[in-house]
Amino acid sequence: MSYEITKTVEGEEVDFKNPSPKFYEAVGGEKGMRELMHNFYEIIYKSDISNFFPQDKEAFDEIALKNTNFFVQLCGGPKIYEEETGGMDLDTYMIRIHDDFSIAEKARIEWLGCMREALESYEMDEELKADFWDYCDKFSKLTVNSFPQKREFNPYH
Ligand code: HEM
Repeated sequence: MSYEITKTVEGEEVDFKNPSPKFYEAVGGEKGMRELMHNFYEIIYKSDISNFFPQDKEAFDEIALKNTNFFVQLCGGPKIYEEETGGMDLDTYMIRIHDDFSIAEKARIEWLGCMREALESYEMDEELKADFWDYCDKFSKLTVNSFPQKREFNPYH
């Protein structure tokens, strides 16, 4: 599997689709999903973007748990994240959560790298893994909210 990362383009509409419930089944249902997200957050904790997250382990674990509940629901498991959104549409709420942080393309690539590392150890139908990856690649573009300033350098003015 190639774990392709497509580039975020500022202002471009992002067409994404939620992961197939078949991925959820293949990863081992709720228990398997919890394991995957646990592994992912262990990797995040040691990554170059760990500074985005709480340094205190208890607070960090709380975020990891919320994220896990989100992914369980997103992938077709029980709706255990729903009440967090205060009635807001899940995708809109998720984008809003990330707006509190300044997330550039570089951080997104690192985040995806952590997800790749967590996913790599799973043996399953590559098509299902690719389906989940595609969601991560696309949706993560919507969390990017910091773009390089276009500067025109003209030495004669
Ligand atoms: C597919 C893409 C992504 C999804 C589905 C996702 C999902 C989530 C979820 C569910 C939470 C917990 C929200 C809550 O508190 O209830 C969260 C928090 C967070 N995510 Fe993401 N995320 C994604 C990409 C990213 C990326 C690319 C970054 C880059 C740094 C990032 C950084 C964070 C941070 C900093 C927090 C909050 C930590 C805090 O509240 O202290 N996320 N994310």
